[in-house]
Amino acid sequence: MDRRNFLNWFLGTAAGAFLVSVLYPVSRYLIPPKVEESTARNVALSIKPAEVKPNSGQVFRFGSQPAILVRSPAGELKAFSAVCTHLSCIVQYRPDVSHIWCACHNGHYDLNGKNIAGPPPKPLDEYVVNVKGDQIVVSKKA
Ligand code: FES
Repeated sequence: MDRRNFLNWFLGTAAGAFLVSVLYPVSRYLIPPKVEESTARNVALSIKPAEVKPNSGQVFRFGSQPAILVRSPAGELKAFSAVCTHLSCIVQYRPDVSHIWCACHNGHYDLNGKNIAGPPPKPLDEYVVNVKGDQIVVSKKA
């Protein structure tokens, strides 16, 4: 290999390594990891119904997945998957606007889980909430 070929080979390799070192982390950032479906069917929460104030929400674990329990300003209890349908960030409840919000890219969902603003392409999965005495039980829809 003469000097010219060596320089071409070296620069080509260095440029290729540089491109891979830049493009790989960027692609890992832009393409979210596959979120596995939770195998849980029912979850009994440790929080009591009276402890969930109107116009509030809190994230809990539904099996292996995050979920969000919301009490609407009117007092209704609802639960949804807390995994944003855009790029899988965890959503939260915003009492100032009384709906569910994703901080990552300013996605908004109403209290039926419907995507109403921002980039989320579809609604949040909704769960069934049953209050049995002093216990809240969240279940997957049949
Ligand atoms: S991940 Fe929620 S708006 Fe982008």
